[in-house]
Amino acid sequence: MCGIVGAVSTRNIVPILVQGLQRLEYRGYDSCGVAVYADGLKRARSVARVAELMSQVDSEKIAGGTGIAHTRWATHGAPAVHNAHPHFSHGPGEAAPQAPGRIALVHNGIIENHDELRAALQAKGYKFTSQTDTEVIAHLVDSLYEGDLFDAVKAATKQLHGAYAIAVFCKDEPHRVVGAREGSPLVLGVGKDENFLASDAMALAGVTDQIVYLEEGDLVDLQLGRYWIVDRNHKAAERPVKTVQAHSGAAELGPYRHYMQKEIFEQPRAIGDTLQGVESVTPELFGDGAYRIFKDVDSVLILACGTSYYSGCTAKYWLEAIAKIPTQVEIASEYRYRESVPNPKTLVVTISQSGETADTLAALKHARSLGMENTLTVCNVSTSAMVRECKLAYITRAGVEIGVASTKAFTTQLAGLFLLTLSLAQVRGKLTETQEAQHLKDMRHLPTALQAVLALEPQVISWAEDFANKENALFLGRGMHYPIALEGALKLKEISYIHAEAYPAGELKHGPLALVTSEMPVVTVAPNDALLEKLKSNMQEVRARGGLLYVLADADSKIESSEGVHVIRMPEHYGTLSPLLHVVPLQLLAYHTALARGTDVDKPRNLAKSVTVE
Ligand code: G6P
Repeated sequence: MCGIVGAVSTRNIVPILVQGLQRLEYRGYDSCGVAVYADGLKRARSVARVAELMSQVDSEKIAGGTGIAHTRWATHGAPAVHNAHPHFSHGPGEAAPQAPGRIALVHNGIIENHDELRAALQAKGYKFTSQTDTEVIAHLVDSLYEGDLFDAVKAATKQLHGAYAIAVFCKDEPHRVVGAREGSPLVLGVGKDENFLASDAMALAGVTDQIVYLEEGDLVDLQLGRYWIVDRNHKAAERPVKTVQAHSGAAELGPYRHYMQKEIFEQPRAIGDTLQGVESVTPELFGDGAYRIFKDVDSVLILACGTSYYSGCTAKYWLEAIAKIPTQVEIASEYRYRESVPNPKTLVVTISQSGETADTLAALKHARSLGMENTLTVCNVSTSAMVRECKLAYITRAGVEIGVASTKAFTTQLAGLFLLTLSLAQVRGKLTETQEAQHLKDMRHLPTALQAVLALEPQVISWAEDFANKENALFLGRGMHYPIALEGALKLKEISYIHAEAYPAGELKHGPLALVTSEMPVVTVAPNDALLEKLKSNMQEVRARGGLLYVLADADSKIESSEGVHVIRMPEHYGTLSPLLHVVPLQLLAYHTALARGTDVDKPRNLAKSVTVE
């Protein structure tokens, strides 16, 4: 989703701004742009990739020491050059609306009262050249400008409703960039005699590792060699400077064709890293004070979006079966707006790869506003807002995930959630030492087990050849493998654009069976658990209607390939942890189907990696 980079320096910062955008490319975007001060406002914008923008900047010789840059993921107005950021103000006195005005601004988020503000600004004579809510902010800042940009931005943000991170500069104050955040992430990078702004620290990798995480409502005034932060009440605010070893987003692909493929194959390492140092099950794995909180809670409420939501759905089966704790899982964007019955003794668990997903953060705040103060996150980014906002955290060590379709983040989340299950079970007296030892042994064996599953790739490729010319697919699972079926369908639809749905297999007769024909591949997740015989009956129902079955069977499931039934046998039966293994062939199936269909695997159309607007 939208990415921001800004800088004030004495050197030409255009290369830094554009490289920063490249590091933010993984978030997903459809247009990009950069503006600098060079005896006035100069900008370049493009609906192509950042590499194109770089060539445009070079050929137009755009250079300067103060500037802002942006990758846009369209919300208001189509992906088009005139909607791409940076936006310039066009005051009533300025002749041509296309000519550079006084203010240049980039924005991440959504301004909800933009219609009302636009009408008021139009009445004052402001001309609009885009359909964006962002241009409204540029004009608003201009309308409030009386010689001090920081004051103008302070006044403007008082009138904005919604979520935003903005970076803005003014041609009348060439060595100054002002930033503000409310609901969208923004960090300050402190350099030597120069300062930077960015959506995340990764954008500044190699530029500075001195990072200040701005808090909600903060405004920051960047100048050469100094910066100044105020809080939402405009009181001076001290924010710690942290040394952050940000990984470069442009991680090496190595022998892989795509980041998604690389990330699927990194899972044994990612799980190994995530479990490193876990010698025994103890609440302290989740932070200081976890024992007291775990002892106090009587239920769990999991809040998340997308793939992270499905890891939560899987964990519900573990939490109720092993820790015997009532667990609810809710999509964050639903929970935040519905009337629910709060229970202060609930452990609120957010799950997020990025730690910046707007709906999950808002759902967390909503839960807190209802008096639920026991908060824990399972998150892949230790410096994220989610980790800062929760009392307890388990940091997964998947490493930077670049492919929009989440893979290694999912399996590492499951590993963290399984440990949470064991810890809660222990505190609640539901885990014997023998059981603890067995579970830990199984967890330690996961990297090896995952390697064996990855070796099934050639068989999955032959399935993918069949799927490549289909337009629909059904995924079935039961029990804790139903969320795995959901995740498999999500992966396939995200990157191959095949319509895919998942159902609990027992629901087949209540609707989806009507869709089953010889054109409908039906993927069945069939581990050898207590529900296997029931699942086999569901499979018969599909075959009887001519449906083609693609079965992920366990080592000992006793399901054989036959006409219309394609079986891939998992290398070993893995009991409670089997969701972590069964999901891997489904990730590979989506990847190879997308590859065969020639879609943009790492950056699927319309989707973003980091969803920082609701
Ligand atoms: C987007 C991403 C998904 C991710 C979801 C939740 O939709 O494309 O891969 O699962 O956001 O993101 P989070 O960072 O909170 O896990």
